[in-house]
Order: sequence, then C-alpha cells, then structure tokens
Amino acid sequence: MSSSHDADIKETAIRNAKIVVGSQLVEAEILVRGHKIARVAKQVNAERTLDAEGQIVLPGAVDVHVHFRDLAESYKEDWYTGSCAAVAGGVTTVIDQPNTKPPVLDKKSLADKQAVARKSIVDYGINAAIDKLDKLELLWNLGVTAFGEIFLQQTSHVDLLQALQTIKRIGAIACVHAEQNIDGVPNEVQGVRAVLNINQAIGAKVHISHLSTAAGLYLLGLYAQDITCEVTPHHLFLSEGDRARLGPFAVMDPPLRSQKDVRGLWTNLNYVDMVASDHAPHSIADKKKPSPPPGVPGVQTLLPLLLSRVDRIGLGRLIELACFRPAARFNLEGKGAVAEGFDADLTFVNLKDRKIITPSILQGKSGWTPFEGLEAIFPSLTMVRGKIVYRDGLIMAKEGWGTQLFGSGKAD
Ligand code: DOR
Repeated sequence: MSSSHDADIKETAIRNAKIVVGSQLVEAEILVRGHKIARVAKQVNAERTLDAEGQIVLPGAVDVHVHFRDLAESYKEDWYTGSCAAVAGGVTTVIDQPNTKPPVLDKKSLADKQAVARKSIVDYGINAAIDKLDKLELLWNLGVTAFGEIFLQQTSHVDLLQALQTIKRIGAIACVHAEQNIDGVPNEVQGVRAVLNINQAIGAKVHISHLSTAAGLYLLGLYAQDITCEVTPHHLFLSEGDRARLGPFAVMDPPLRSQKDVRGLWTNLNYVDMVASDHAPHSIADKKKPSPPPGVPGVQTLLPLLLSRVDRIGLGRLIELACFRPAARFNLEGKGAVAEGFDADLTFVNLKDRKIITPSILQGKSGWTPFEGLEAIFPSLTMVRGKIVYRDGLIMAKEGWGTQLFGSGKAD
C-alpha cells in the first residue's frame, strides 16, 4: 500500500498482554498497524483496543512440514480445512510438501498447487520435489521455499548428489526424509549417515525432516555441515508402547520409537533445531484398510502439546523451536517473533487453560488424532497479518486470507 493511504491503515493496541522476552514473561502492549507489528512497548496508543485479558501473546507458530493433500486427495484434507486446523492450534505459517497427487515437480504442477493453496487462511510456502533434476533452478526462481521432503528410500544416491549440487549452487535448502533401507528394514541412523556422506564434499544446506531417534540426533552433532533437523510431537509424546492401543492410527514413517528414544529426544531437545508436525492426514476409512497408509494429522496439536510441557521446555526455548528457528532457517521474512517490523502473526494462550484432546475439537478433515486423551493448551485467539482468524473455537477468516511466501530464489 502506498504511503498516501497510510491514514487508512488500521491500528490496534493489544493491551493487558504478557510477552516473552528472552526467557522472561513481561507485561507489554503491542501496536498492530495493518499487517505488521508497529511497536512493542510498555504502553502504545491506538484508537482500537484488543484486550488480551492477561494472556500470553506468542508469535504464531511456523510449521515447516505439512501435507495438505489437495488436489486429487482433497477428501483427506484441503488447503482451507488444513489451514483452519493450523489457526485453531496457533500455527500461522505452514510449508507444504510436494508428495501430493499430482506431485510438485515442474512449472505446471507448481501452478496447480498454487491454485489450490489460494484457499489457505494461513501464510504458506510450497516445496518442490527433485524428480526432474533439470527443473530445480526454474522451480527455485518461481519461488518454491525448499526442495523435499526428499524420500531417501525412493531416491538414488546419485540423483541426490546431483540435486544437492544444484541446491548448493542456487542457495536453496534440501529437506530429507532420512530413512535408508538396510536389509529391507528402514534405518534412520544409516539414512542420516548417507545424507551426511553424500553432502560432505558439496556442503549444501540440508534439513532433516522428522528426526526420530536419539542416535540420529547424536550423529548430526558430529558433523560440521550446514544441517538442521526437526522433531515431531508424535515422536515426543508417543512411543512404540502406544502401537497396540492405536493400531493403524499409529502407523507413520518414521515409526513410533522406543521409550529410550523418546527420553533421548527430550533429554537432548537443546540440540534440536525446531519442531514440525508432519501433518499427514488420512481418512478413518483409509486407515482401516489392510495396508494403512502412513501418517497422522498434527498441525492443530503441535503448539498445544508443547505448551502442555512448558514447565520442562521453557517459553523462550519453545518460541525458538516452534516459531523463530523454523522461520529463520527457511528464510520466511517477518515471521516467528513478536517484534517491531514483523508480521502481526500472534497467538493468545492461557497456560491454565488445559484441555483433553478429543476428535470433536479438530478442524481438519480426518476426524481423528493419535493424541486423543492427552492434555494440551490450545490458543484462544490467533491473528494472521493483523487479522483475527480464529477466536474461541470459531474460524473468523474467509478462504484466501493466506498469502504465499516465496523462497529467496524469486526476485520481487
Ligand atoms: O507418515 C508419513 N506420512 N511420513 C511421511 O514421511 C509422509 C507422510 C505422508 O505424506 O502421508
């Protein structure tokens, strides 16, 4: 908007809020001006006021790993329902993975994904696959956020090597699902090792999707590469002991791990770069098939589950894991912090408001969650670029409020 319209830009003062500064919770007021946070101070002035009623105002979470399913599998999820689930869980930005039907691997399939993604009420990045090696640079210039999730089990090492060379040259980032089949059994440590070995002479930016074992995390720490990782709530809050109870609803890749691994991830959470949901919805009917497809929904429960353990994680670290680090790693400018100049992507939470997760609170299409019965702290209000998109169980935005965030390859 040009400056001649500045007088029309609406300003709102968020009062009676607490925000996290470093590791401290402090009382502050936030001036929202149009889409942006204009000021964070003890006191701000604006004609309109939004009373936070003493709640904590966090940056909206950034979930770098969702599968929103549109086009051919929109019966599992679509961009409107997926993004409604996001805001009901305090997620204001998502990055969608390319293994949709059809997959995103060239100009046409990217345009098809962009056409359905316009329904989103959260901001979003779109990732591309590496199936067409000669298209990576074009896709990057068209604004994809990253490459991957690259399924290592389905990718030849020479193709990955070539993709990483291009990704390094253009300055992009590769997200790898690092499980490698050893004697027919998927193995994460060997997968991570393979990625590190292939990348050692290239030095591309790599991000390991849904790391699930303490040994994998340990291995990452041994290499001085530009490599980050994410961990999912299902690998932090569930273990293989939940398999019998959940049956096909616990089937996902990587699978649920041992109690020892779960403890290992919690103990070493300081070495984890970020959390992400791997929101991979499937219908109940699909999950009850003889070979249930892998994947669990999770975008709505990502932040609420972490908040339920804030005593252990700490609010400052939680913001790093769920908001700031994912935004920074994927170059999502203006995202991930309650700070002047950042987008007014905010989520209001009351830490005393603990709820038991039930399917009835879910906004997505799948209608089930592996986290049913666990305690969580859901937000009361979520704002995306200055607009209240969710409040007290109700979606307040129409389809299409979200905008695409382009990767740094795209010239403005
Ligand atoms: O369980 C999973 N489901 N893991 C993945 O990596 C892919 C995902 C899906 O797309 O369903």
